[in-house]
Amino acid sequence: TPGPPTTVVLFGATGDLSRRKLLPGLLHLQRSGLLPDVRVVGTSLEEHTRETFVEFAHAAIKQFAPDVTEREWDDFATCLYWAPGSTADSLRAAVADAESACTGPQRRLHYLSVPPKAAMAVIHTLRDADLVEGSRVIMEKPFGTDLASAKELNSAVHEVFDESQVFRIDHFLGKEAALNILAFRFANGLFEPVWNRNMIDHVQIDVPEQLGLEQRASFYESTGAYRDMVVTHLFQVLAFTAMEAPTALDPQSITEEKFKVFRSMLPIHPEDVVRGQYLGYREEAGVDPESETETFIALRCFVDNWRWAGVPFYLRTGKKLAQGQRIISVAFKEPPKSMFPEGSGIGQHGPDHLTFDLADQARMSLSFYGKRPGPGFRLDKLSMQFSVEDTGWAGSVLEAYERLILEATKGNHTLFTTAEGVERLWEISTALLEDPPPVRPYEPGSWGPNQIHQLIAPRGWRLPFER
Ligand code: BG6
Repeated sequence: TPGPPTTVVLFGATGDLSRRKLLPGLLHLQRSGLLPDVRVVGTSLEEHTRETFVEFAHAAIKQFAPDVTEREWDDFATCLYWAPGSTADSLRAAVADAESACTGPQRRLHYLSVPPKAAMAVIHTLRDADLVEGSRVIMEKPFGTDLASAKELNSAVHEVFDESQVFRIDHFLGKEAALNILAFRFANGLFEPVWNRNMIDHVQIDVPEQLGLEQRASFYESTGAYRDMVVTHLFQVLAFTAMEAPTALDPQSITEEKFKVFRSMLPIHPEDVVRGQYLGYREEAGVDPESETETFIALRCFVDNWRWAGVPFYLRTGKKLAQGQRIISVAFKEPPKSMFPEGSGIGQHGPDHLTFDLADQARMSLSFYGKRPGPGFRLDKLSMQFSVEDTGWAGSVLEAYERLILEATKGNHTLFTTAEGVERLWEISTALLEDPPPVRPYEPGSWGPNQIHQLIAPRGWRLPFER
């Protein structure tokens, strides 16, 4: 059911995320009737007026939501407001203007699409503008840059907002495919009994990107692949993969089980990490010519509990790699003994795998050995597959940011991260952040530095897929 009128105050409204995801997402929510009565108060430090903000939003919609009709755009455009300079006075006035356009109960959501170092200033401005009570606030990752800064940020946020008002967003948790991990594991009796150290050899969470810096040099220089992707997205989906069955699909149960995974994770050992930097990175505009920032990271980590003790989780992500993929691949143990002779094909294509593809099509596949038709007994790797494309549901896929904005307006924390969880992830990262291994060069378009093979040996990386 559509909620009451909602005002979204968008900080960083003329930034890249706003252009690509947030403005198109808000328009989609309005158009689909999920958030029909939404007003957007844009604000940023850039010099804009309402008119130039509307032009910016129009260009963004044309580029990133080309399916939107002129009429839908016109409806949305009337709901856009602008607060110049992000000052307390301008915000107070613009929000009052937006909210006076409707009567009855209303919701207000502040979306902080700003870098971590700007987040505190925004929180204080909201306090000065008297826009805290009755509001919810979405904060973008990374939440701090290490344990100390995360604690400082969390306690400073808590001086102004109650934790129940705070929504730390991690858009991987809003992806259809990530939620399908929960459905697959906990709505079926088939796989959960084998989902443990007795049957699973290892897990790979592999998110190579073909993209480079995309005009985000200054953000990326101070962030790097570990803070940008691992301590956020990859560990969050690791928690969905590794957690015990929650007692209910509610924020408390899910958060508790995810936190238990984080608490069981062993500190990341610098020797279990390969950092890389693509050749040419130091020559990019806005990058320090002696930069040690990693644009690639691969690591091995462990969830040291009864279910997973001794099972390695291999994580990899980086920029300018050979392919753009987002997969979680669970490798099962091989049979203890084989009746099939050498040369029959057994073992030739690695162990059986269950693979979740986190792309919009939410593909899942199970690979296993089967008999090739014909005389003799030749084995080959077969697979069973599911994809949203094959179901006729493709039109119902909700983009990750859209889902998360919608859930935050309703006050539902199920798909958000907590202060405690974030701090624990920084805690297990301390040794790595204090003593990072050197960055190794790699060729753009490759799979990363050569050392990634030693890291995973005697196993191998699942990507690129053989077939
Ligand atoms: C963002 C990172 O959070 O996630 C980017 O800052 C990265 O560097 C992006 O490219 C990947 O998200 P997606 O949904 O495109 O896989």
